[in-house]
Amino acid sequence: MRKIQTQADWIARAQQVLPAGGFGNFDPGIIIRNGQGSRVWDEDGREYVDYLIGSGPMLLGHGHPEVLDAVFEQIPQGMSFFANNTKGIELAEEICSAVPCAEQVRFVTSGGEADMYAIRLARAFTGRNKIIKFEGGYHGMSAEAQMSLAPNRRVNFPQAIPDSAGIPDTVAEQVLIAPFNDLAAVASLLSEQVDVAAIIVEPLQRIIPALPGYLAGLRALCDQHNVLLIFDEIVTGFRLAYGGAQELYGVTPDICTLGKIIGGGFPLAALAGRREIMQHFDKSLVGADKWLMQLGTLSGNPVAAAAGLKTMQVLRRDGAYDTLRATGRTLWDMQHKALTAAGIDHQMLGDATLFDILFTDAKVVDYRGAQTADARLGTLYNDALRQAGIFKSPGKLYASLAINADDLALTQAAVETAVDALCNAVLQQ
Ligand SMILES: Cc1ncc(COP(=O)(O)O)c(C=O)c1O
Repeated sequence: MRKIQTQADWIARAQQVLPAGGFGNFDPGIIIRNGQGSRVWDEDGREYVDYLIGSGPMLLGHGHPEVLDAVFEQIPQGMSFFANNTKGIELAEEICSAVPCAEQVRFVTSGGEADMYAIRLARAFTGRNKIIKFEGGYHGMSAEAQMSLAPNRRVNFPQAIPDSAGIPDTVAEQVLIAPFNDLAAVASLLSEQVDVAAIIVEPLQRIIPALPGYLAGLRALCDQHNVLLIFDEIVTGFRLAYGGAQELYGVTPDICTLGKIIGGGFPLAALAGRREIMQHFDKSLVGADKWLMQLGTLSGNPVAAAAGLKTMQVLRRDGAYDTLRATGRTLWDMQHKALTAAGIDHQMLGDATLFDILFTDAKVVDYRGAQTADARLGTLYNDALRQAGIFKSPGKLYASLAINADDLALTQAAVETAVDALCNAVLQQ
């Protein structure tokens, strides 16, 4: 008889063939077997309410019937062509009509790739080299993006330090690091440095919101210094609003990057921007010297595009974003209330559609502020939630449209258990 494989068996197998026992993304101590709607199950059959949702893409939940139909319709027609296809063209059209800065779109396969090309595009357009990036800002895994992503030592701004081995020293010279939410710091950098091509920013940096006027201030500084503004909307695009953070906050960047939701759970991402900038992907218009060579086997993949298009069609329906926000607000309030009632210092941070808790009473506006939070309490809280059937990342809770009243009731009970665990830990200190 064949032996049934437990989760522990799979973990042991993974440890043999995968460095650090995993794919590099998430806790390798859990193996997800399947997902349906708002729930996922691990390889031991334990059920969880899913607030990780694939790190953002599964905004409609797992196995949404309309998305499945769209995918099943496309698959027999062909899964990958490397050539233009109608689904990809329709997806580009929909992005252009939804996203304020998007006049043209170029597809890639991952968000990090989109960010890498956005930076390169800004250099090609401006003829300058340097990039301003914010400490703690996440833009994928390119060499530039690894600069001061999650530094554990403090250096003076604007010095960049790599968070990965294997990056040549010269990359740090091209990246200027600024603290998030400090307009004066960016203004002074731009007045000293003449070679800046772009500022790249997450309009909601991880879970830290921009202060009122901050994004508009960045826009004004970019205009003043002829520097391009890149919004990394890999997470916020089609989540904070249908037109992303740029629609919600009313600030239009020159270029934005999109991923996650636009691929409906399949590998697809994009960069989009003004036509005169995007034309640097067209050699016939800009000439060989100013042209960005860009291609990729899976770019504009028709299955991914079909899934993304259907996801976006569902999101356009009346009330979708109101429902998402209301669900997120309920999740936010239930945790805030329980922690407040227990007298635990904390701060809720983010947007109703994605947020998390930092265990500190200090107002957090940047990466260094976030570092002052009590990480031990954070780990305890997240571990207790997991034990009680909640699946989320240690740094974010993603609301989804699949969450229903049963999920909220289960989450409420889990939150109470996790808050009790925190109270016990605090008492024992
Ligand atoms: C803001 C932001 N930018 C870029 C990326 C990279 O996207 P991907 O993982 O698809 O490369 C992520 C991934 O989570 C992200 O959150």
